[in-house]
Amino acid sequence: MTHEYRRIAPMAQTYPASNIRKMFNLALDYPEAVKLTVGEPDFNTPAHIKAAGIRGIENNQTRYVANAGILPLRTAIAAKYAGRWNREVTANNVMVSFGAMEALTFALDVTVSPGEEVIIPDPSFPNYVGQIHRLGGVAVPVPVTEDNDFKFRAEDVRSVITDKTAAIIINSPSNPLGSVMDRAELETIADLAEEFGFTVISDEVYDQITFDDAQFTSIAEVRPGFDRFLVVNSFSKTYAMTGWRCGFVIGSVDLIAPMAFLQEGITSSLPGFVQEAALAAIEGPQTDVDMMVQSYAQRRDLITERIAGIDGISMLRPEATFYAFANIKDWGLTSWEAATALLENHGLATIPGSAFGAQGEGYLRLTFSVAPETINTACDRIADFAATR
Ligand SMILES: Cc1ncc(COP(=O)(O)O)c(C=O)c1O
Repeated sequence: MTHEYRRIAPMAQTYPASNIRKMFNLALDYPEAVKLTVGEPDFNTPAHIKAAGIRGIENNQTRYVANAGILPLRTAIAAKYAGRWNREVTANNVMVSFGAMEALTFALDVTVSPGEEVIIPDPSFPNYVGQIHRLGGVAVPVPVTEDNDFKFRAEDVRSVITDKTAAIIINSPSNPLGSVMDRAELETIADLAEEFGFTVISDEVYDQITFDDAQFTSIAEVRPGFDRFLVVNSFSKTYAMTGWRCGFVIGSVDLIAPMAFLQEGITSSLPGFVQEAALAAIEGPQTDVDMMVQSYAQRRDLITERIAGIDGISMLRPEATFYAFANIKDWGLTSWEAATALLENHGLATIPGSAFGAQGEGYLRLTFSVAPETINTACDRIADFAATR
């Protein structure tokens, strides 16, 4: 028997490197640069949530806990979403995870086998491609275009469904597009999932960061009888808790139950004190959430107004999230060229749109969860650059 000599498994060797990470690394050489790169709130975790975490440590919530998450947290998450969706959700429908990131891992683990296909929006969060790759699956991108207000359309999905389609990942509100999917599109996606027998993995981490009259709808509320979904969510964005790494996935019991066994072999469980903090986030006052969302809305207005005044760059007004996806096609540069020129010559770090998929070419993602002064400085620098084009 011959044995192929190999040090690194092909999966790891060929893991798709994220251009977001590449840009972060490049930006490290420019410590003085203004950064519109990082996709997280600039607020600190609210005091009552931090206090609950500290209390958890003091009360010795420092041992292993249940794989699926502590029951009070799963019960609180279930109650919150039962109310929001107006459907029955119990603790058995909830799996607690290390951020939405691990929630995605679980959702894909229970639905996708090697060689099967997962439909994803293009542009979208680059970790979808990475996670699908890790499972030996095939990511099938569906273009989401500015002509259609950056809204994911169900009719574009039908043509890419094959007998290998195991799941679709949708992301509303969208990172990097700042758009919200229409209810009618979600209804059609639910119909397609039932007709062709695939699962809808719905990444809803920005579900509470919506502005004005944007109408966010969850896949879980389109039809009471529809249960071929896994909703991925997290405390990261809503409660300014990115570093706590607490997320969750909600779905039917047959899909959720195996996740606890999977967790046993991955991380066993999240720290109990982190889960106590998350419980306080749900059960405590929501005034901080309201204040943060209002603040993002004001910053959205500021960046929209400033970009409108600069030649060669334009953007749709984001309805949600803290991202703007700005069209720079008139500059005649690739998005990577534009992003590196802005960084190297004008001290401004942005993310090239191509980091989110082929359809992101010709765009820059601008994060506006930064101070208004930072938005103004960044836009001054974009204007200086635009004047040279
Ligand atoms: C669309 C989307 N999904 C998931 C995540 C991961 O979030 P978490 O911190 O909960 O792992 C992010 C973070 O940027 C995101 O933008």
